[in-house]
Amino acid sequence: MKFFVDTASLDQIKEAKDLGILDGVTTNPSLMAKEGISGKQNILNHYKAICDITTGDVSAEVISTDYAGIVEEGKRLAEIAPNIVVKVPMIKEGIKAISHFTNVGIRTNCTLVFSAGQAILAAKAGATYLSPFMGRVDDITWDGVGLIAEIAEVYAIQGFDTEILAASIRSAKHIVDAAKNGADVVTCPLNAILGLLKHPLTDIGLAKFLADHKKANS
Ligand code: E4P
Repeated sequence: MKFFVDTASLDQIKEAKDLGILDGVTTNPSLMAKEGISGKQNILNHYKAICDITTGDVSAEVISTDYAGIVEEGKRLAEIAPNIVVKVPMIKEGIKAISHFTNVGIRTNCTLVFSAGQAILAAKAGATYLSPFMGRVDDITWDGVGLIAEIAEVYAIQGFDTEILAASIRSAKHIVDAAKNGADVVTCPLNAILGLLKHPLTDIGLAKFLADHKKANS
């Protein structure tokens, strides 16, 4: 399973890269806004800065919602670097645009996915990645991990190539649940990834090893 970080923060992307576990990055307009990035050119420059840090796939989201606008914007984003993946919302015009991008060799990430039906449509259009939002599904007391499992089952039965990119991850548990249920990729805030490190027995065990070493060597 690949690990992407879900952030537009260059510091967090660098930190994940330094950990040696970074396979890629996803962003969205909210994450860009959180970093204070605004204006067409600044946004393009920021994607370039991200692509200068990692050679892994970097999802850059379109703002347009009409077919011509999505195609034009996606083309511009894809020109930034070979590792850009154009992120397109799960709407009718988006599916049409994903089919177009598939035909011209531009890779895509279909975002805002909340059902297996949407997942089938995105795969039919040739999306490279599919982003089901686990956390937002759980937020309304539906079953985020169940959604990942259902999509994984359908894709396996149908032999679809689209990679399942579990998104809207809120915790380390979400990462483990996504891994157990067939996600090909997880995109997470860095603190959810760091949460995987935590176990009290590791802390207790390390403290004892160090104490015993100190005793024997003093
Ligand atoms: C990623 O591609 C999504 O845009 C992101 O994971 C959404 O996460 P959120 O639900 O925490 O905003």
